[in-house]
Amino acid sequence: MPRKTISTFSVSEVIHLSPDTFVMHLQGVPPLPEVFAGQFAEVEVPGSPDVFLRRPLSIHAADRERGMLSFYVKTVGKGTRRLSELLPGEKVSVVYPLGNQFTLLNSGKVLLVAGGTGVAPMLMLAQSLKGAGAEPTLLIGGRSASDIHVTEAYHEAAEVLVTTEDGSAGIMGRVTDHPVLKENFDFVRICTCGPDPMMKALAVIAREKHVICEASLENTMACGFGACLCCVVKTTEGHKCVCTEGPVFDTRNLENW
Ligand SMILES: Cc1cc2nc3c(=O)[nH]c(=O)nc-3n(C[C@H](O)[C@H](O)[C@H](O)COP(=O)(O)OP(=O)(O)OC[C@H]3O[C@@H](n4cnc5c(N)ncnc54)[C@H](O)[C@@H]3O)c2cc1C
Ligand code: FES
Repeated sequence: MPRKTISTFSVSEVIHLSPDTFVMHLQGVPPLPEVFAGQFAEVEVPGSPDVFLRRPLSIHAADRERGMLSFYVKTVGKGTRRLSELLPGEKVSVVYPLGNQFTLLNSGKVLLVAGGTGVAPMLMLAQSLKGAGAEPTLLIGGRSASDIHVTEAYHEAAEVLVTTEDGSAGIMGRVTDHPVLKENFDFVRICTCGPDPMMKALAVIAREKHVICEASLENTMACGFGACLCCVVKTTEGHKCVCTEGPVFDTRNLENW
């Protein structure tokens, strides 16, 4: 794994995809350290004296040679709201790359399942799997069409499938209702990121289909480097810190999954 660094980036652009979802593009000094799909960063919230702690965010895209790092973010509280308001040129301190990564298979069909901001690490994962020789399919679920933000880059990297609870895009229902998980299931692995109940349901399906399921957990974090223990998850080998030993876990190793 590359060593983590603390670097100051300049905001190059904040693109608002919907009233509560945005992509933040940052410009740093190239070349950036190598970043793997599933890793995350601890991002400072600048100019917000009442938000002390950095916020953990999955790395959505990284371009080492051009020095660019991007995050896909949902506004849920003070920290993410302030990030959504950043203007081009403002400085942001970022500690990265943190955590482990999804396993990169070099053959076979791999199903990536994302719910909500769980889509954040999936573009890079799909691109990496495709580059390694695997065949990624990306299944994205949301409440309605306004939650689904799929650009051409997703279609270039993977077959893209969509479910929405109100049926306004893709197949009506939850991701776990999609036929791809039921009939003719021919995937060798499931990789998922999103709400815990969704990922737990996928872990059950993976068990039934006799394939491995890797889940990226988003437990609430404080220190981000294994000191405060506030992010621990119960595994078959005892408690583990999601920030240092995750965020990606084989769901067979998670207690009660
Ligand atoms: C490894 C990791 C990767 C993540 N990647 C992304 C990402 O790519 N994009 C993204 O939008 N978010 C991501 N998150 C969640 C993100 O860190 C939180 O939404 C953010 O820290 C909230 O900060 P805030 O100041 O806006 O909200 P706060 O004021 O701190 O909290 C507002 C509300 O959000 C809830 N909340 C806080 N942290 C989390 C969390 N970790 N998970 C779920 N709910 C939370 C709180 O319980 C509260 O209800 C990730 C979290 C982890 C641990
Ligand atoms: S966030 Fe402190 S130990 Fe993981």
